[in-house]
Amino acid sequence: MAFVVAVAQRKGGAGKSTVAATLATTLAVAGRPVALLDSDPQQSLARWYTERARQPQAKPLLFEAVSGWRMPATLDRLRDSREVLVIDTPPHADSDARIAIRSADLVVVPLQPSPADLWAMEATLEVARAEGRTVRILLNRVPPNGKLRDDIVAELNRRGLPLLEYGFGNRTAFATAFAQGLGVVEAAPRGSAAAEARAVLRAIQESLA
Ligand SMILES: Nc1ncnc2c1ncn2[C@@H]1O[C@H](COP(=O)(O)OP(=O)(O)O)[C@@H](O)[C@H]1O
Ligand SMILES: [Mg+2]
Repeated sequence: MAFVVAVAQRKGGAGKSTVAATLATTLAVAGRPVALLDSDPQQSLARWYTERARQPQAKPLLFEAVSGWRMPATLDRLRDSREVLVIDTPPHADSDARIAIRSADLVVVPLQPSPADLWAMEATLEVARAEGRTVRILLNRVPPNGKLRDDIVAELNRRGLPLLEYGFGNRTAFATAFAQGLGVVEAAPRGSAAAEARAVLRAIQESLA
């Protein structure tokens, strides 16, 4: 029975597609049978997957673009053959995002350390709460200067929100790998971004254990 992870955040540009591709490829490199499902009509992952076909170092990973109403049936079809199903979702309070959240065992919410992202996240958390889903917040594009990070961590802790211990720095390696149809663990396995990807995956697993 596959474990379903939806990557959701109302704010566009928060890093949903990047995080979904990073999680799926990090699992694939670890040898786990994984499928990546794109429910965003902008289909950035579909473009990513087209590039991926040209990359010899790309590990096996099933990809499908799935609109919201077909999501439950698609998940049911893939559940038995995959260990993890990762869903990328559209921004806004889209009904497709809600369907993905409802279907998920875990909702990962990428959050950039900015007030706009924090405000947009509240709507996503509200949907996850209404659907009774488990949530983990993943700090993304964290700048090297620790002040912004410290402020946002303090704010999340004050609110008692479930923040993952590790996040992703603001690193060009994520954008470069994405443009090549790869994850950072495939494009630059010894780089800092790949180390973060593996640490985040471990942090998710440990936080659910
Ligand atoms: N950790 C990161 N470091 C650097 N750039 C990032 C990072 N995460 C995302 N980006 C960039 O931010 C932009 C928006 O990311 P994307 O994953 O498309 O967000 P969303 O899917 O939420 O709209 C993209 O250009 C992407 O390459
Ligand atoms: Mg996206």
